[in-house]
Amino acid sequence: MTVIKQQLQSFLEKHRIQPDTAYAGIVWFDHEDIKAKENEPFRIFSQSRYSIRDFGMDPVSQDKLEDAFKLCERTPSACNRQSARLHVFTDRDKINQLCKMQMGCKGFYKSFQGLILVCADMTCYSFHEPNQYFVDGGLYSMNLMYALHANDIANIPLTMGHKTKHLKAIKKAMSIPANEMPILLIGYGSYKDKWKVAASKRKSWKSYVSWNS
Ligand SMILES: Cc1cc2nc3c(=O)[nH]c(=O)nc-3n(C[C@H](O)[C@H](O)[C@H](O)COP(=O)(O)O)c2cc1C
Repeated sequence: MTVIKQQLQSFLEKHRIQPDTAYAGIVWFDHEDIKAKENEPFRIFSQSRYSIRDFGMDPVSQDKLEDAFKLCERTPSACNRQSARLHVFTDRDKINQLCKMQMGCKGFYKSFQGLILVCADMTCYSFHEPNQYFVDGGLYSMNLMYALHANDIANIPLTMGHKTKHLKAIKKAMSIPANEMPILLIGYGSYKDKWKVAASKRKSWKSYVSWNS
């Protein structure tokens, strides 16, 4: 890490780059503070969700997981087709295997307590709606991340945007039925007392909203 820091520092100096720390870096969080926000109105609750890459040791209760799934029954879907299918993995070997195949959580997957693979049942759609299950699955996934957070379950979305061949291999390894399309993997665990997250600065809505009269 020291070598990387030195190389970065000399690169910045060489190219006279002054990093804007308001746009990058890490932010420290406190479980008590986050917990207090989990039951606040949406405007406070929604701003307190972050992708977590550093999990605690307390076991996640099955009741809380089930409550999150219950809340997600209300997720809207095209023509109310309700195509979401969830595959929950809690076996350590399965978690490790799936995370290695996912490839985007190398540095932190060992502290996951479980994985939720959000899939869509493609048979809910006809041939002229090739992308609809990604829309419905995306809505479901966002709702699930909020529902987990509302139940004090730390989580992180992990891409399932892989080549068809690799997705097939993942489905085979995890025994996912052929009619299902993986939409998003969610790693979950408990919150630590204190932890750090990537700042992930956002664009202002003013930079992408067009008002049309
Ligand atoms: C569809 C999707 C896929 C993602 N895949 C990964 C991933 O593979 N690895 C990772 O570390 N983060 C992943 N993320 C997390 C994003 O980096 C994170 O959501 C983004 O930086 C915003 O930060 P926040 O979630 O803390 O607000 C993914 C997020 C989304 C929505």
